[in-house]
Amino acid sequence: MKILVTAGPTREPIDPVRYISNRSSGRMGYAVAEAALQRGHEVALISGPAAISPPAGVRLVLVTTAREMLEAVEGHLEWADALVMSAAVADWRPVRPRRLKIKKNGALPLIRLTRTVDILSAVAGRKGDRIMVGFAAETGSRHLAREAERKRREKNLDLVVANDVTAPGAGFEVETNQVLFVTAEGVEQLPLMSKREVGQRIVRWIEGFSARR
Ligand code: CTP
Repeated sequence: MKILVTAGPTREPIDPVRYISNRSSGRMGYAVAEAALQRGHEVALISGPAAISPPAGVRLVLVTTAREMLEAVEGHLEWADALVMSAAVADWRPVRPRRLKIKKNGALPLIRLTRTVDILSAVAGRKGDRIMVGFAAETGSRHLAREAERKRREKNLDLVVANDVTAPGAGFEVETNQVLFVTAEGVEQLPLMSKREVGQRIVRWIEGFSARR
């Protein structure tokens, strides 16, 4: 299959030296890309700024902002049989990034924010037969499955991989993750495992889903 993976954070500029972003390391998305390559799939990886090296053999597209990521996803969508949207897209961006660095000795800056484009929602209308996988990063596990199911329906996804990023062994900057698979059939709780193994499980889920349709 041809699998399009997004990974890492996006950065939304405030001025030429500052930005809004989040703690995503890119590990989870890179693990999906690596697992897909190992299973013999063709993989395009659209990545925000991540500190880790991409797997060998991947078609890598580097982006910075949510807008650039959207354009890259749109540009690859026709090619792809499946989209795995593991990127932690920044939800807000400064309305008007300053052209010059804001000097600290002036008045405290008021930075007006606006919503970034929701990439999954923006491409949902072009889903066709494509398999679409999203992630749900939540804090506090109480409503994890419910929130993930809401996102699955709202964004017309086949699978939502949900995790509580504050749980031990899950979340940012760690090598492991504990996730739920939320699909139209229900919720499956996976044990704590390495992000590499979670990547393999996601790729196998896509293969299985594709085979039984
Ligand atoms: N996503 C996206 N475009 C955005 C934000 C998120 O495509 N601008 C995708 C993410 O890549 C992820 C899924 O949407 O696959 C869910 O992201 P998440 O941040 O957990 O949820 P949100 O939809 O942003 O909702 P909330 O802030 O209510 O948790």
